[in-house]
Amino acid sequence: MADTILEIEDLHVTFDTPRGSLHALSGVELAVRRGESVGLVGETGSGKTVTALSALGLLPPTATVSASRLVVGDLDLTTAAPQEVRALRGRTAAMIFQNPDTSLNPVFTVGQQIADVVRRHRGLKGRAAQQQILAALEEVGLPDVRRVAGSYPHELSGGMKQRVMIAMALSCEPELLVADEPTTALDVTVQAQILELLRDIQHRRDLSILLVTHDLGVVAEVCDRVGVMYAGRVVEIGPTASALGAPHHPYTRGLLAALPRPGSGRRRLRAITGTVPSNPGAVRGCPFAPRCPERFDRCDEEPALDPPSEEHQHACHLPA
Ligand SMILES: Nc1ncnc2c1ncn2[C@@H]1O[C@H](COP(=O)(O)OP(=O)(O)O)[C@@H](O)[C@H]1O
Ligand SMILES: [Mg+2]
Repeated sequence: MADTILEIEDLHVTFDTPRGSLHALSGVELAVRRGESVGLVGETGSGKTVTALSALGLLPPTATVSASRLVVGDLDLTTAAPQEVRALRGRTAAMIFQNPDTSLNPVFTVGQQIADVVRRHRGLKGRAAQQQILAALEEVGLPDVRRVAGSYPHELSGGMKQRVMIAMALSCEPELLVADEPTTALDVTVQAQILELLRDIQHRRDLSILLVTHDLGVVAEVCDRVGVMYAGRVVEIGPTASALGAPHHPYTRGLLAALPRPGSGRRRLRAITGTVPSNPGAVRGCPFAPRCPERFDRCDEEPALDPPSEEHQHACHLPA
C-alpha cells in the first residue's frame, strides 16, 4: 500500500466561461500521506476549492483537467472511467462542504439520508443499517442520537448539521476526508468544537484529511502540514510549524502579517496590497511579483517549488 492517499502533480484546470477560458489552476503540486492532515490556505480565488474538487472528480463539465499525476488511493483519475470515479467517492474519499444546507436534503430525515449512504456504499439494510446510523451519529458527538436520526435538517442547529455531514461522510469509512471550509458558516465557539471533532476523528480512525480554509489559525490548530496557494499554484508547503512559524515565501509572510493578533490593540493590520490575478494562467513569471515587496529581476521567470527533496518547499527565487 502506497504511503500517500492523494498525489497531485502539475495539475492544470481550465474553465470555459462566457468571457473565454479561465485558467484556474496552473501546475498544482500536492500530496497527502496516509494518516496525516494537510491544510490548504490562500486568499479567495487562489484555487483551493478547485483543487479539492479535482481530487474527487467533482469538477463541472465546463472544466478541462490535465495533470501528470492525479491519484487517489489506487485510482488514477486521469484515466479512470466515470463509474470508477463515482465509486471512489464515499469509499476511498468523502467530501464535506462549507454549508451543510446545500448538501442535506430538506425533505428527508437525517436517519433516512444516512441510511441511503450506508445502503449504497456498504449494502446495509434494516437493523444493521439502523445500528450503523446511530453509531455514526454518536461518533460525531451528537446527543440523543435517536431523536437526531428522526429529525429533519431544519430542526437542527448549524453545528449539528455539520456534525451530521461528517457522520454521513464517515459512514462510508473513507480513507481520505476532504473538507472545504467546513467551519466558515458557523459561529466561533461551534467552529472550535467542529475542529476538535475533526482532529479526534483523524487520530481515532487514522484518517487522512485535506482541510481547505482561508483561516491560518484553523490550520495551525489541526494540520500536520500546510500548503499555501496563490494564483492557482501551491507556492509554499511544509510542516505547519515551519511553514507558518518560519515562512520562506513573501506571500506567506504577507498572509501572516495580515492576521489580527490578540493584544495588538488598535494597530493597523498590514494587508497585502494589490489583488489576486483574475486569470492566473495568463500570468508570466512569478504570479506574486506584482504585489511582492521583495521582487527583483529574476522574478520574470516563474520559480518552481524548491528544494525538491525537502519537506519545506517554496516557489520563490529568494533563498529560504
Ligand atoms: N465552475 C467554475 N467556472 C468558472 N470559473 C470557476 C469555477 N469554479 C471556480 N472558478 C474560478 O477558479 C478560480 C479558483 O477558484 P476557487 O478554487 O473557488 O478559489 P478558492 O476556493 O481558493 O476561493 C477563481 O478564479 C474562480 O473564479
Ligand atoms: Mg473555496
